[in-house]
Amino acid sequence: MTISHDLDLTSAQSRESAYQAYAALRESAPVARVRMPTGQDVWLVTGYEESVGFLTDYQRFRTSPPASGGDGAAPALPEAVVRLLGGSMGSMDPPDHTRQRRLVQAAFTPQYVETLRPGVQAITDQLVDGLLARPDHTFDLVEDFAVPLPLTVMSDMLGIPRDDRNRFRLWSELLLSLDPTSAQSAPAGMSPMDVMAEIEKFVGYLDALIVAKRADPGDDLISRMTLAEADGERMTDEELLKMVALLVVGGLGTTQHLIGNMVLALFRNPEQLELLRADPGLAPSAVEEMLRFHGPIEISFPRFAAEDTEIAGQPIARGEMIIAVLAAADRDPARFTDPDRLDIQRSGNRHLAFGRGAHMCLGAPLARVEGQIALTTLLARMPQLRPATEPVDAAWRPGLTLRGLSSLSVRF
Ligand code: HEM
Repeated sequence: MTISHDLDLTSAQSRESAYQAYAALRESAPVARVRMPTGQDVWLVTGYEESVGFLTDYQRFRTSPPASGGDGAAPALPEAVVRLLGGSMGSMDPPDHTRQRRLVQAAFTPQYVETLRPGVQAITDQLVDGLLARPDHTFDLVEDFAVPLPLTVMSDMLGIPRDDRNRFRLWSELLLSLDPTSAQSAPAGMSPMDVMAEIEKFVGYLDALIVAKRADPGDDLISRMTLAEADGERMTDEELLKMVALLVVGGLGTTQHLIGNMVLALFRNPEQLELLRADPGLAPSAVEEMLRFHGPIEISFPRFAAEDTEIAGQPIARGEMIIAVLAAADRDPARFTDPDRLDIQRSGNRHLAFGRGAHMCLGAPLARVEGQIALTTLLARMPQLRPATEPVDAAWRPGLTLRGLSSLSVRF
């Protein structure tokens, strides 16, 4: 049965009420057929155990639809978008996926990412220095801190000149705006033709960058990816292009939203903020809890049933589209005690904010380090950090894929 009642999951207002909507859905059917605002019918998985089982079964649930039948008639996309995102690692299944992932995995192990910590700290300190110099003691936590932090970390990591950072921000937002479930619109004043023209510029920029890095490799990630080998093979230029695009799309908005969501959650739970201020050593477990409580990625990538099958007894036909609602699974009372309570000391917090299984977030170690440094640095260097207004003036962005704020005014 398709539930097509007014399940509003994408408006900015729905961000606050979504958890209740998910709870109602989970109670009535942890695997439910729902009509999305795009008109597409999909299976939404809202239970924790059901989501884990689904995400880790890449034999039955594939990232691409079967050649015929089912929900998978993908819209035709312009050439530049296909070159950037079509057939990237995110839409591959093992064993092809395993080979691609091995080529880039070394740069994202927790051990390697630890070596980036001093650089991330220096970038964060520099940002905070600038903010502390503001005479009015106020700033927008999103625009002035959460956006530039991951953008600068990512540019340095990839070996992109810092002066080009803002172009990358625009390009990553434009790519996200092409995802129909994101419900994210292109920046004001940009027509669909302007968007495509920018995306073509992005492709041109990356093509030239890859040629330059191959000719004269440095110590950055793109250079290292040009040299990485798996099974005696190196990445082709097309594979590199897709990988860089995936890192840019996957690593910027997500980390930005983690930072904003964490600060909002702490403002709304002042006793947890005090706990963290009193013991900054809680930062790692606080970040895990914020990922569970307000994870920046609300839903998994879509998967498709490779055969007629079932999840938790619910029959699913070959080719039908299935999405795990990570935000719902992470509030499942069958898995988390008192799931709607923010508890930065929660133990056994195996949330699904980074997904699970073969596609589990590649950048998770980096996102964790950025999140921890952002929190500890803000709280240590701005002991008076508080909302600029009461009640807190925070605006959620619309859209289903990402959960994040468009602004959060703060005072220090
Ligand atoms: C708090 C921040 C982040 C969150 C919540 C997050 C979440 C996720 C989730 C849920 C997935 C898996 C989706 C699925 O299986 O359907 C994923 C995949 C991925 N993420 Fe992240 N991510 C974050 C930050 C990053 C960063 C910083 C990077 C890169 C620097 C990154 C790169 C990727 C890539 C490349 C994939 C695809 C992996 C694959 O297909 O094997 N993410 N992420």
